[in-house]
Amino acid sequence: MFRYAVFAFAFGCVIHLSRGTEVTVKDKDDKLCLYANLMVNFSVSYMTSDNKSQLAEFELPAEVSSNGSVCDATSSTLKLSFGAGHTWSLNFTAGGNTYQSDVITFSYNLNDSTVFPKSALNDTLSVTVRPHISDISMDTCYSCQSKDTLQSDTVNQTLWDVRIQAFIKNGTQSENMTTCAADLPATSIPTTVAPVTNTSAHTLAPTTTPAPTLPIPGTGTFSIKSGENGTACLLANFALRIGVKQGENYQEINLDPNMTRVSGVCGVNISSLVLVSNAMTVALTFTNNTKKFHLQTMNVTTKLSSGAVFSAANSSLSLWEAALGSSYMCNKEQNYSITSQLNIFTFNLQVQPFAVKKGLFSTAEECFLDSDLSFLVPIAVGVALSFLIVLVLLSYLIGRRKSRTGYQSV
Ligand SMILES: *[C@@H]1O[C@H](CO)[C@@H](O)[C@H](O)[C@H]1NC(C)=O
Ligand SMILES: *[C@@H]1O[C@H](CO)[C@@H](O)[C@H](O)[C@H]1NC(C)=O
Ligand SMILES: *[C@@H]1O[C@H](CO)[C@@H](O)[C@H](O)[C@H]1NC(C)=O
Ligand SMILES: *[C@@H]1O[C@H](CO)[C@@H](O)[C@H](O)[C@H]1NC(C)=O
Ligand SMILES: *[C@@H]1O[C@H](CO)[C@@H](O)[C@H](O)[C@H]1NC(C)=O
Ligand SMILES: *[C@@H]1O[C@H](CO)[C@@H](O)[C@H](O)[C@H]1NC(C)=O
Ligand SMILES: *[C@@H]1O[C@H](CO)[C@@H](O)[C@H](O)[C@H]1NC(C)=O
Ligand SMILES: *[C@@H]1O[C@H](CO)[C@@H](O)[C@H](O)[C@H]1NC(C)=O
Ligand SMILES: *[C@@H]1O[C@H](CO)[C@@H](O)[C@H](O)[C@H]1NC(C)=O
Ligand SMILES: *[C@@H]1O[C@H](CO)[C@@H](O)[C@H](O)[C@H]1NC(C)=O
Ligand SMILES: *[C@@H]1O[C@H](CO)[C@@H](O)[C@H](O)[C@H]1NC(C)=O
Ligand SMILES: *[C@@H]1O[C@H](CO)[C@@H](O)[C@H](O)[C@H]1NC(C)=O
Repeated sequence: MFRYAVFAFAFGCVIHLSRGTEVTVKDKDDKLCLYANLMVNFSVSYMTSDNKSQLAEFELPAEVSSNGSVCDATSSTLKLSFGAGHTWSLNFTAGGNTYQSDVITFSYNLNDSTVFPKSALNDTLSVTVRPHISDISMDTCYSCQSKDTLQSDTVNQTLWDVRIQAFIKNGTQSENMTTCAADLPATSIPTTVAPVTNTSAHTLAPTTTPAPTLPIPGTGTFSIKSGENGTACLLANFALRIGVKQGENYQEINLDPNMTRVSGVCGVNISSLVLVSNAMTVALTFTNNTKKFHLQTMNVTTKLSSGAVFSAANSSLSLWEAALGSSYMCNKEQNYSITSQLNIFTFNLQVQPFAVKKGLFSTAEECFLDSDLSFLVPIAVGVALSFLIVLVLLSYLIGRRKSRTGYQSV
């Protein structure tokens, strides 16, 4: 909370640093709304065609394009494109008197042979990390000269000499500044940190870095048709993210529904849906057990940012269960552990793998999270608690009366 100090007398962002990458973004009224001047070094490990791990080290160049950057009232994005198809973007959200950056997304094009010579892959890969840029007072410029290295699976990014102001008011940069803790003299950092009683536990804590947050994936509408000319016999709408854990590494990947090819079959007892995108292949099979259906099997194959192929399957699931002739629905985010290495997250889910009529979803059976009854849980807890209190009170009163009568009888 006290990580940053605001200086009213500093120069803010107005002073220009000549060596950093400087960009400005204008809003729809053509007024300055976002300013950045910063340095970033990248260190990317990749595989070469002769199976060797190679390290590419490069800097964010001075020449970048800020096309695609946007300013809004409470969220803004700085998007820098450079070189042969690389992009680096930083998003900002405003809340009350402060703003912060929640995620850095760096996409690098392995097909760029000047940066990634002899790369085995030619895809564009993406990593997301959470920057340490928060608690910036509104209408001030964030300044951090110190180096900050953000590590992920295959990419290290070092930021320094950073000056950024988002949510600029009236097109005028602030002269006031929020300085990062690392830049402050050690003595002025308030020592309001909780006392550490177990140092070994304390030193372990920082290794559990927060999982990077991807944007919510787009919702796809997938369907399988029966016959050459037939109507849909399987309907599935959902947004999907997978999370893959391999040892220390955890990576999340979104399914891009726009880039997804759909196939599958409708059966009497089993129906299947296969989704193939650039990033992953997902195969789902649904089982009809006469009264109900459920998701029985899930098989996910994906390519990790390290280039390795990952595959995991579980054929004894019983998820997304609903009565035959209806659909299963869950709008809220749900996460499931498919295997010890694979998690999936779904949003805006509605599926009907059997008995689809006229190509439309039948009435939905909603998951508990969506249901109107889920609000009853805290009420039930409250009722139970007050019942307990009444009980305790009652037994106290009874106890008192008993002891009184006991006293009188003596
Ligand atoms: C950034 O990279 C350049 C050249 O690659 C190097 O000279 C410089 O020392 C690096 N700076 C940091 C902070 O790593
Ligand atoms: C590269 O590694 C893969 C498996 O890891 C192996 O199948 C392939 O033969 C290797 N290629 C070379 C050129 O060593
Ligand atoms: C990328 O690699 C694939 C197969 O390795 C190849 O078919 C494709 O043409 C390559 N794309 C580019 C743009 O080089
Ligand atoms: C990132 O930094 C860590 C710690 O310095 C190092 O072990 C790792 O190899 C680096 N990774 C890359 C891709 O440079
Ligand atoms: C800087 O902060 C001071 C005190 O908080 C305020 O009076 C002043 O208007 C601010 N200046 C700018 C340019 O935001
Ligand atoms: C500190 O925590 C670790 C792990 O939780 C535990 O193994 C160790 O015994 C603790 N040490 C003390 C002194 O409490
Ligand atoms: C497909 O549908 C069209 C119009 O709905 C119809 O004219 C045609 O005969 C159908 N073809 C088959 C193979 O059912
Ligand atoms: C996917 O398509 C929708 C609608 O066509 C569009 O709004 C969205 O931006 C697209 N998403 C991507 C990642 O291309
Ligand atoms: C579900 O399975 C039962 C028993 O195999 C079958 O009678 C019924 O037609 C199936 N329902 C659907 C919608 O395929
Ligand atoms: C579906 O299951 C029922 C009962 O298990 C079985 O009798 C029937 O032959 C199965 N139908 C198909 C098409 O496999
Ligand atoms: C999952 O899919 C992969 C690739 O399509 C396949 O090799 C594997 O056998 C499948 N696993 C299961 C359990 O179906
Ligand atoms: C999965 O959902 C549960 C609540 O249903 C939540 O406690 C947990 O943190 C979630 N896991 C992840 C990885 O988001």
